[in-house]
Amino acid sequence: MAAVKLLLSCLLFTEVHALSGNFWHITDLHWDPTYKLTDTPELVCASSGERPAASAGIFGDYACDSPWHLINSSVYAMKDILPDPDFIVWTGDDTPHVPNKDLGEEAVLHIIGNLTHIIKKVFPYIKVYSALGNHDYHPKSQLPAGPNYIYNQTAEMWRDWLDPESQETFKKGGYYTEKLLSRTGFRMLVLNTNLYYDQNKLTQDMDDPAGQFSWADQVLTKAADSKEKVYIIGHVPPGFFEKKRSKPWFTPKFNQRYLDLIQKHHSVILGQFFGHHHTDSFRMFYNSEDSPISVMFLSPGVTPWKTTLPGVVDGANNPGIRVFEYDTQTLLVKDVVTYYLNLTYANAASERWEKEYRLTESFRVPEASPASMHQVLERIANNPCYLQKYYEFNSVSYDLTECNSDCRVDHVCAAREVDFKRYEHCLEKEGAAAIYSGLLPVLSVAVSLVLATR
Ligand SMILES: *[C@@H]1O[C@H](CO)[C@@H](O)[C@H](O)[C@H]1NC(C)=O
Ligand SMILES: *[C@@H]1O[C@H](CO)[C@@H](O)[C@H](O)[C@H]1NC(C)=O
Ligand SMILES: *[C@@H]1O[C@H](CO)[C@@H](O)[C@H](O)[C@H]1NC(C)=O
Ligand SMILES: *[C@@H]1O[C@H](CO)[C@@H](O)[C@H](O)[C@H]1NC(C)=O
Ligand SMILES: [Zn+2]
Ligand SMILES: [Zn+2]
Repeated sequence: MAAVKLLLSCLLFTEVHALSGNFWHITDLHWDPTYKLTDTPELVCASSGERPAASAGIFGDYACDSPWHLINSSVYAMKDILPDPDFIVWTGDDTPHVPNKDLGEEAVLHIIGNLTHIIKKVFPYIKVYSALGNHDYHPKSQLPAGPNYIYNQTAEMWRDWLDPESQETFKKGGYYTEKLLSRTGFRMLVLNTNLYYDQNKLTQDMDDPAGQFSWADQVLTKAADSKEKVYIIGHVPPGFFEKKRSKPWFTPKFNQRYLDLIQKHHSVILGQFFGHHHTDSFRMFYNSEDSPISVMFLSPGVTPWKTTLPGVVDGANNPGIRVFEYDTQTLLVKDVVTYYLNLTYANAASERWEKEYRLTESFRVPEASPASMHQVLERIANNPCYLQKYYEFNSVSYDLTECNSDCRVDHVCAAREVDFKRYEHCLEKEGAAAIYSGLLPVLSVAVSLVLATR
């Protein structure tokens, strides 16, 4: 009987795997070419600013962007863990967090070139879908809504990964679309959402920078007509930063337009994959009946760099890389497996990339569909064990402190509401709930005291 059961489960297993594919998602590598081991902690790397790099080692320091050794290690770790993915998604931010005057156009291009080179060298036969980050431009975050030298040069560097038509749109607006792995019925949409970043001074007065929204609307409309399934990738995500209350990235009108785009076309969109946060999180999209319709996965960065964003306490992370498992027939995202390098351990002992967690195991859901991710969010919102687990994964097992009630509200509302007004409303609602549950023990003690004295 047991043997039959085993045989059956093996058969089921192989059947599942026949339809199952996987791809890598890497993001925010932020190479700092100035990183070097010296006796003066303030002089280890330019990206630490004035901060001391107190535990600098060959794989880096939490105050710094990635040394080349870490970049190299992460790309070879990918090769070691999953050498033959269907494709690679790479969502930008290649240069270090240093003042504009210390980089310049040529330095930015060299860094993009070096990272492109190592990915190509290690994965010569794998298709890479590559999006620009806000740090892949000089001056940083000022990506133009039209042709320029950097889009031109980057399109050349990525020539092997781009169809001729993609080359054209990329040179004009830093975005492109093509059939996913040249297969009919499957499409990749690569967006330049840096155009919607509120730090981008060039696009604030425009309605539709580089015509990207109307172009994406057309692409997705055609996709529906042709019964295609689509993945969307980009760098800067809409919605809010979960580590800082009420901190959005998009300008309000662009946030609304992005949300409208997803709500209109969700039936063809099977996944959205973004970076920029350096943390591990996700964003839910709902329809007007509050049913989950889409998920944006925010993958952790390779750089461990502790953010200098005011109000974020100890915002560093361990270097992370991630595999998505998906159904090759439907593009449904089935699972998410995150690997990481414990930077402290790597510097002290040895280079060891480990599995951090598998989504379906850690959150006990059947897959990573919108319905399942909604379930994950409900578990995080309502069960302190899941909240704590999620919180530790959020910094790639760097920050293991307790996620308190304010922390819970910040993370839950950021994941649940991409819309600005609904997010504020969520803060009020969840904040009130937190006060209530905080009061509950006090009230019950009061009641029992009253009861006792009666
Ligand atoms: C990159 O990593 C590979 C694999 O660990 C190693 O063989 C190679 O020497 C490394 N290169 C550099 C420049 O660190
Ligand atoms: C980066 O690329 C430049 C040429 O563009 C080359 O001179 C340099 O050696 C490269 N650095 C690394 C670490 O690959
Ligand atoms: C970009 O490349 C095109 C040719 O592909 C050229 O005509 C144009 O002048 C270039 N623009 C810039 C700003 O370098
Ligand atoms: C990372 O490594 C350090 C040093 O070995 C260790 O103290 C710490 O617990 C490790 N972190 C995790 C999440 O395993
Ligand atoms: Zn970044
Ligand atoms: Zn970024």
